[in-house]
Amino acid sequence: MLADLATSAHAAEFIMRTQVAIIGAGPSGLLLGQLLHRAGIDAVIVERQSGEHVLSRIRAGILEQTTVDTLHAAGVGERLARESIVHAGINIVYDNQHHHIDVRALTGAVVTAYGQTEITKDLMDARAAAGLPTLYEASDVRLEGLTGTQAAVQLTHQGQALRIDCDFIAGCDGFHGVSRRSIPPEQLHEFDRAYPFGWVGVLAAVPPVSPHAVTYAHHQRGFALCSMRSLTLSRYYVQCPISDRVEDWSDARFWDELAARLDPATAGALITGASIEKSIAPLRSYVAEPMRWGRLFLAGDAAHIVPPTGAKGLNSAVSDVRLLAQSLAEHFLEHSDAAIDHYSQRALRRVWKAERFSWWATSLLHTFPDTDAFGRRMQEAELDTLTSSESASRSFAEHYAGLAF
Ligand code: APR
Ligand code: PHB
Repeated sequence: MLADLATSAHAAEFIMRTQVAIIGAGPSGLLLGQLLHRAGIDAVIVERQSGEHVLSRIRAGILEQTTVDTLHAAGVGERLARESIVHAGINIVYDNQHHHIDVRALTGAVVTAYGQTEITKDLMDARAAAGLPTLYEASDVRLEGLTGTQAAVQLTHQGQALRIDCDFIAGCDGFHGVSRRSIPPEQLHEFDRAYPFGWVGVLAAVPPVSPHAVTYAHHQRGFALCSMRSLTLSRYYVQCPISDRVEDWSDARFWDELAARLDPATAGALITGASIEKSIAPLRSYVAEPMRWGRLFLAGDAAHIVPPTGAKGLNSAVSDVRLLAQSLAEHFLEHSDAAIDHYSQRALRRVWKAERFSWWATSLLHTFPDTDAFGRRMQEAELDTLTSSESASRSFAEHYAGLAF
């Protein structure tokens, strides 16, 4: 580790020095730390929560091929290769029938089911094995010197005031983090759309209804989704009003509602059981531009979020991080700033495509309170086009499997 600890001239403040200070130890921050480590670049991660808390969050789990490739390149692909399940396609259900979109046949690519929580664990284990520093339960995190000659992160860790001097700060601290808020408001352009519904999600130790495909259902009662974490662990969602609380959704009500939104064959194959976890998530599209401000770079949920309908959240985060790690490597190892100077522009181009796909899939598959009869017919015609036209299916499959870099 290059970072060293020294006592500052001012009383009880410790000073650390590193090349890149990473804010947030979610998948974005941990993956960036791992990629930088493999490139020989020194980094310290600062995380507000405990490691256990980070690992307790249940998130989506459908990986594009480029995400899988990036995890292998980061040296954390071993358990992923062993335990993940490949999906060659997806199912779309509407009008009491299911339609299969064969992603592999249409694009040559597949998607991979492997939970974000597992990726986070693999990255944490790799970081611990390499002895790399992560400051968990850090408080009062503040970013300084973003437009100066050197940046710094001020924080409190285990009761001790600490300053991390660094060349760059990577803001990987999610939607509610401090990094994006450290950019002057007049310099930040925000694009935001909240949807008038949420998803109730249930995790249950039951075999999945379709073990080799994700099933997306459109029904007048609302959207539903059948996914999985393994052959014995299933993840299901149903659209609910934004005002609903988890207490409104007993297990029985959830399973009944899910079955009512599926076609008879899929509903007939549904195996129900006690929920292990149940939560309600609101749906939102959000992008902040630019993704760089001086010595600060934003990546992942810190810069953008998507509604989960297209399974793009984690994949977009990994795509940012891959680009950022390459750009920082060019700066430190090849002494070229071309890539860091283009980071925001290049990342945003891909981000907006993921935003478009996620917004479109959300609009197509959900029921909106203010949709009139014409709007409903448009959704039906679009679903028909998607499932009956090979070029429409292929375009969907290309975006679902992930655009090439
Ligand atoms: N200081 C330090 N850490 C912070 C701060 C702060 N002020 N604020 C937030 N954090 C931490 C959070 O506790 C969290 O662990 O930053 C981390 C951000 O992690 P995520 O929210 O998981 O964001 P990211 O790593 O970009 O992952 C993106 O998560 O939400 C999903 O759909 C999204 O799958 C995608 C993935
Ligand atoms: C999930 O497995 O949790 C999941 C799958 C597909 C999505 C969203 C979530 O589009």
